[in-house]
Amino acid sequence: MAMPESAATREPAKPTEERALPATGEGRRPEHTVAVSDPDPKTGFRSFALGQFRFSRDEYFVHVTWPTPKGRLEHRISADAFLRALMRDVAWGFFYGLVNFDSMFGSRNLYGHVQFFAGRYHEAYHKAGLSYVEEFDSAFAMTACKAILRDFCSAGFDPFAAPEETGTTWAGPKQGDNVAAIDRFRVATKRMPGLFGDSPLRDDLPVNRAFADIPQDEPVVETEPGFEGKLHAFNLFKYLSRSDVTWNPSVTSVCRQSLFCPTTEEYILPIIHGNDRVEWFVQLSDEIDWEVADKETGKPRARILMKAGDVAAMPADIRHQGYSTKRSMLLVWENARLDLPDLYESGKLKPYPVEF
Ligand code: PHB
Ligand code: FE
Repeated sequence: MAMPESAATREPAKPTEERALPATGEGRRPEHTVAVSDPDPKTGFRSFALGQFRFSRDEYFVHVTWPTPKGRLEHRISADAFLRALMRDVAWGFFYGLVNFDSMFGSRNLYGHVQFFAGRYHEAYHKAGLSYVEEFDSAFAMTACKAILRDFCSAGFDPFAAPEETGTTWAGPKQGDNVAAIDRFRVATKRMPGLFGDSPLRDDLPVNRAFADIPQDEPVVETEPGFEGKLHAFNLFKYLSRSDVTWNPSVTSVCRQSLFCPTTEEYILPIIHGNDRVEWFVQLSDEIDWEVADKETGKPRARILMKAGDVAAMPADIRHQGYSTKRSMLLVWENARLDLPDLYESGKLKPYPVEF
């Protein structure tokens, strides 16, 4: 629920320091600056002003405020949920389409630019004229998001980990930080992990507690002379059993624009993703329950329980969020073509890939 800022329990601290972030593009200065306050004397957290948005946090909540014709509105999000969502925006470079932190606030990737929105995809707020959208240069917004993430995240809390594994250090006043977790090295696979010159297999990571039964042997690859370095195979189940993060599809095979992005899932997908293209899901193990809603309005459209072996095409005009009690393995198959959002938005492509 958003509420008038005047009624908010805690006003964001007034920015005391204007820090212009580095110029972007060809020496251009960004049109926006981000203002950062001194640490709040009680909580230790700073407040941030990004364009017309204001972000502050207290012991339990992140408060986001934005301007409307009826004055500023304030919306609160549990700080752990906010940090998990912001971590994905940072790690995925704003991802494909919409990253809804919840039904009110989120980002829309315009590839080079990014919009932050409040209420824009919440039918009631948008119809009432209380929504707000502001567009930023992506590199500029990314620097701001990283600064907020670093400040709002206390020591011991890993926004990529399952709740059972990272605990509750996200709550309470600021205590240290966890730069190592949020600046994790991002594995950039060019073709496939384990290929010469490509990203490593995860032999140095432990098998996750949920995947103790996964065989750890690798396939034997015998290559005909002349095909050395061109033929490759690895044990994907072993690779996934050693993933130390959740809800983080990472590129694991590249075939032109076709990307296989498997991931391990436990608890709740920290964002409600609004697709700007069709995505295919292959449930590799265990189960995920998906709630699927209209991308624009949030009206419910489907509920899908995917069991091991199930395949689904998630349409280009939906938002979705997954729930997985037992850590599970999911293959997300993405097409990275740059023209897809336009083709779907203009209606040149239907939002679904198959007609029965
Ligand atoms: C998705 O929105 O399609 C998505 C995002 C993250 C995941 C899985 C699916 O871990
Ligand atoms: Fe999605």
